[in-house]
Amino acid sequence: MLIAFGALTGLPPERGAAASLDSRFGGHYERPLGQGAWGSGRLTMIIAIDGPAASGKGTIARRIAAHYQLPHLDTGLLYRATAAALIAEDRNLYDEAAAVAAARGLGLTEFDDATLRTRQMGDAASVVAAMPGVRAALIEAQRAFAARPGGAVLDGRDIGTVVCPGADVKIFVTASAETRAQRRALELIQSGEKANYEAILADIVRRDARDSGRAAAPLRPADDAVQLDTTHLGIDAAFAEALRIVEAARIKA
Ligand code: DC
Repeated sequence: MLIAFGALTGLPPERGAAASLDSRFGGHYERPLGQGAWGSGRLTMIIAIDGPAASGKGTIARRIAAHYQLPHLDTGLLYRATAAALIAEDRNLYDEAAAVAAARGLGLTEFDDATLRTRQMGDAASVVAAMPGVRAALIEAQRAFAARPGGAVLDGRDIGTVVCPGADVKIFVTASAETRAQRRALELIQSGEKANYEAILADIVRRDARDSGRAAAPLRPADDAVQLDTTHLGIDAAFAEALRIVEAARIKA
């Protein structure tokens, strides 16, 4: 599946981005006009879902978005695509000026979803994501996505703290590193690939350290985030718990 970023980065639709929006975000749901997903009188609902790699936040975000018929943005893909653009041009991953140019140019490029979602690309993404210039280049597009009429679900590392500090609901999804590595290994085995548990665990621990230890928008729960530990939860139970958290916020609103 090809992914284009034009619509997100504000480039004109003739770039083909509008057509690819659905595939890009894993689902874009239209709500009938005038029907607010939020409580009475509220017409927008911005849901921020953050957490470390392989915590389950992406699956939870997709399911929450489908449940409320809201558009969903997997913000990790932006950092993955930035890294992919650098790699495709044979540029040094640590060259901040080149990384910023790559982030700004995302709207002009199409990416293969399978390439973006590899473990190696996740690792490369976490390198460019530590650069303040790259984060600055990507923030407005994320905020514009969140500001759509009706709201949106965004998942990432800094949605509740930096991108949408005023989000209506903030969920911080965690799970032990060992559980996350087991889940990743199982996913690979189920898709017919080989899985090296130790290598996956090392990768997760390294990524956690980089994402949490950086100065620019480090991975951390917002003060008003509800923590959801999925270590002992299957995906259905984790989704049910996330839904309960959103519903509790709706009642309060
Ligand atoms: O969620 P993911 O695994 O696709 O993210 C890949 C990397 O991108 C992650 O290690 C850190 C970075 N990232 C970020 O810094 N901020 C976000 N909002 C999303 C991802």
